[in-house]
Amino acid sequence: MFADRVLSGMRPTGSLHLGHYHGVLKNWVKLQQQYECLFFVADWHALTTHYDTPEIIEQNVWDMVIDWLAAGVDPSQAILFIQSKVPAHAELYLLLSMMTPLGWLERVPTYKDQQEKLSEKDLSTYGFLGYPLLQSADILIYRANRVPVGEDQAPHLEFTREISRRFNHIYGKELGFEEKAELAIKKLGSKKSKLYAELRNLYQEQGDEHALEEARSLLNEQQNLSLGDRERLFGYLEGGGKMILTEPETLLTDASRMPGLDGQKMSKSYNNTISLREDPESIRKKVRTMPTDPARVRRSDPGDPAKCPVWQFHLVYSDDNTREWVQRGCKNAEIGCLDCKSPIIDKILAEQAPMYERIMKYEEDPTLVRNIIADGCEKANKLAEETMRDIREAMGLSYS
Ligand code: TRP
Ligand code: SF4
Repeated sequence: MFADRVLSGMRPTGSLHLGHYHGVLKNWVKLQQQYECLFFVADWHALTTHYDTPEIIEQNVWDMVIDWLAAGVDPSQAILFIQSKVPAHAELYLLLSMMTPLGWLERVPTYKDQQEKLSEKDLSTYGFLGYPLLQSADILIYRANRVPVGEDQAPHLEFTREISRRFNHIYGKELGFEEKAELAIKKLGSKKSKLYAELRNLYQEQGDEHALEEARSLLNEQQNLSLGDRERLFGYLEGGGKMILTEPETLLTDASRMPGLDGQKMSKSYNNTISLREDPESIRKKVRTMPTDPARVRRSDPGDPAKCPVWQFHLVYSDDNTREWVQRGCKNAEIGCLDCKSPIIDKILAEQAPMYERIMKYEEDPTLVRNIIADGCEKANKLAEETMRDIREAMGLSYS
């Protein structure tokens, strides 16, 4: 139950581009090999900002899932699902809303930022204010302890940690907690219970984070503790009550942002993307017409790769030899810009061709994706239910 579990979500923005591939999907593909992973389509989150255009959501959902699969996200390794098909997310969102101070939501920096940025929309809604709390429910319902996201999402993760601490603080108390925790310690066996007690003291008396980590991994290694005792011992470490919800850690997706065709960050709103579904001819054309160092008006004018968006692509795609060739050739006007772009075109085409093919396969037979998602939703519902049972009990709702 406290084994590493990764969860991440994406709003259904439709088909994806190389920025998503290099920034997010490649990372998911790596994580799915190392951890239990859940990846989901945050369709309710899309409605918080697009509540007045629901017609775009459905197509976007399926296109996006197809692109995940094309990029190598593997349903035999990770659980893929759609948020709205696991209604318990909404139940937890509601239950958490009872104990969420309004001020916490109002102070999340993305709240005002996004309202200002999307000023053409009326985002003075209850749903939009609740965006981070819905995200907390997404994470906490699976007790996910690692959440890979971009930097922009860090405040939502911090908010989620605060909600989880508050929840554990309010609802983690049980009658006779300390006695039960002490009994559970004894069950560790004499050597380990002594170690646990020492580490707990070190943490509580000296704030020794290292001791806390060590005690947690000691608990993680215990196979034959009951779930209740585990929760107690995790909670007891930090002095509180039972740890019902897990505090997630942010796995910051590294900032190696895929540049767009114009050198800004690749993004649909800048119209500078190469989509995973782009046909080869269009890729060639887009790269050929990319802007370069403006100093190179003529082939004989020397340039500086540092001032050229094409160089950013070489940093993503080229090996040292090619990079040296670019540096020398550009600064001494030995190569033309089209020469310089040619290896990039080859690399992008080679990277994208197998994805493009898989996309076509999934497009041809929509039942493939429907089945993958149906299977993922079933698994996600089961996992969500495990946590919901504890939550309902803690909140006094477990009568039948
Ligand atoms: N808010 C995230 C984004 O815009 C999407 C998201 C929703 C998410 N729920 C999540 C990400 C839970 C990680 C975990 O990118
Ligand atoms: Fe840019 Fe390459 Fe042209 Fe230099 S040679 S300006 S790096 S495209």
